[in-house]
Amino acid sequence: MPKKLKKLYEGKAKIVYETEEPDKLILHFKDTATAFDGVKKAELKGKGALNNTISSLIFEILHEHGIKTHFIEKLSDNEMLVWRAERFLVETVVRNFAAGSVVKRLGFKEGEKFKKPLVEFFYKNDELHDPLVCEPHIELMNLAPIEAIPVMRETALKVNEILSKFFKEHGMVLVDFKLEFGKLPDGSVGIVDEISPDSMRLWDANTGEKLDKDRFRFDLGDLLEGYRKILKRIS
Ligand code: TMP
Ligand code: ASP
Repeated sequence: MPKKLKKLYEGKAKIVYETEEPDKLILHFKDTATAFDGVKKAELKGKGALNNTISSLIFEILHEHGIKTHFIEKLSDNEMLVWRAERFLVETVVRNFAAGSVVKRLGFKEGEKFKKPLVEFFYKNDELHDPLVCEPHIELMNLAPIEAIPVMRETALKVNEILSKFFKEHGMVLVDFKLEFGKLPDGSVGIVDEISPDSMRLWDANTGEKLDKDRFRFDLGDLLEGYRKILKRIS
């Protein structure tokens, strides 16, 4: 069992630790829920374990489809072993239906289906509230290597196909999701961070019930009840 050594970094939802192996890190998933760039915050016992479990499951599915990620293995309820990566400062979002910021920004109606999946990039910066960026901004500001941009876009679209189908089979609609990428120790570009109901919108295919973090953002119901429903359906 790999051991946690020095704490490298603490984010809103996770703590990153070094291990005895320089290329491997341990992610500890916290029980903290935040929204609106940390403005809204709560401690929800069991949230970390749910996100770690769901995230691990999703990474395993992606690996079965040949997608590169930092995931190595789930170590315990709240811990995941991952490859150390140089994280890019870009969030890649794929949208199948209109919801969230795209509704506010461009006037789409919530729930409107897009003709084809929409890929957007955001600058990962809480102080600036993660603004939308275009390729020239990514290049100018060095947010990610220029050659990684098409890799991020194509990988995100492939992940969208895999996960949309997977969630559909389990009675849910994948509305949108966010991915983060980085350079893995072997030099390749891969998915890092988590892929969980914190970073996606999932609606019940029959009732339209929102099962993801929007429950917390907009006080729509018990957050963990939604996450438990997702886990029960996919495991
Ligand atoms: P948005 O509609 O607020 O732009 O969010 C799009 C998707 O990205 C949604 O599934 C939630 C996720 N997301 C994150 O994971 N982290 C963030 O900081 C934000 C703003 C969104
Ligand atoms: N991820 C951001 C936060 O935790 C924004 C959000 O999800 O609404 O504050």
